[in-house]
Amino acid sequence: MLVPLEQILQRARQNRYAVGAFNIYNLEGVLAVIQSAEALGSPVIIQLLPSALELGGTPLIQLCLEAGDKAQVPVAIHLDHCPSQKMIQAALAAGISSVMADGSGLEYAGNLAFTKNIVQEAVLYSAGVEGELGRLSGSEDGLTVAAAAAKMTQPEEAADFVKQTGICALAVCIGNIHGHYKTEPRLDFKRLAAIAAAVSVPLVLHGTSGLPDEMIVRAIAHGVCKFNVNTEIRTAYTHSLSRLFVGGNLPELVDVMRDGIAAMQGPIQSKIRLFGSTNKA
Ligand code: 13P
Repeated sequence: MLVPLEQILQRARQNRYAVGAFNIYNLEGVLAVIQSAEALGSPVIIQLLPSALELGGTPLIQLCLEAGDKAQVPVAIHLDHCPSQKMIQAALAAGISSVMADGSGLEYAGNLAFTKNIVQEAVLYSAGVEGELGRLSGSEDGLTVAAAAAKMTQPEEAADFVKQTGICALAVCIGNIHGHYKTEPRLDFKRLAAIAAAVSVPLVLHGTSGLPDEMIVRAIAHGVCKFNVNTEIRTAYTHSLSRLFVGGNLPELVDVMRDGIAAMQGPIQSKIRLFGSTNKA
């Protein structure tokens, strides 16, 4: 069944677990996420990056909505990392129920104004908005942000940002990065604790791929309710494709699709177990 992001995250926050937000690009991704969540009785978040939405358009949104509606577990359909007001408006009009307003490339005042504006727009659709404070480095959706350009979330700003914008979830930057961690991941848990104490909304951690299990468990204890996962699933999917397309072999496409779905289910299910959302549907 389709449920709003806010509902999924508030339940997670009250019961001290987190929910996986998995980036998908196509039918195989949607089926891998929903079948994994159903197998484990877990709520789940399906999210689309702007590049996937640009390619798939409203048919991709409709696919997510229809599959989410028919699912046996709560599913939220979310637009991830969107800096474009126009795209957010189109996604909301097409039925997406929550969006991440990504103003992280702007200075504080610009981010605040952009996010506030999106919240006002989203209210018209009864949709929720995730905002981000600080800036993540690493690579995602064709964009690379250098380590030097990364900005940590300031706890004092976080309180003001949440209050002024009316967002339903806050993505934090505490040393997490998008894509592969090139060195040992180091998260600033002291900062996370200060942010959690300063705001009353569920926290979100991007760049989950490659984080050690104990860091994830610790982040949940500090109020993180949504973990974004992309690279590990994409890696499993592309490896499954490369295994099948060797030696001039022309496999049946349904076999390719089945293999891709099965491959993605591995990391998705292990993350769901780790997040503690098994049997929380
Ligand atoms: P990873 O690709 O590092 O898992 O990050 C995903 C993400 O944060 C999507 O917004």
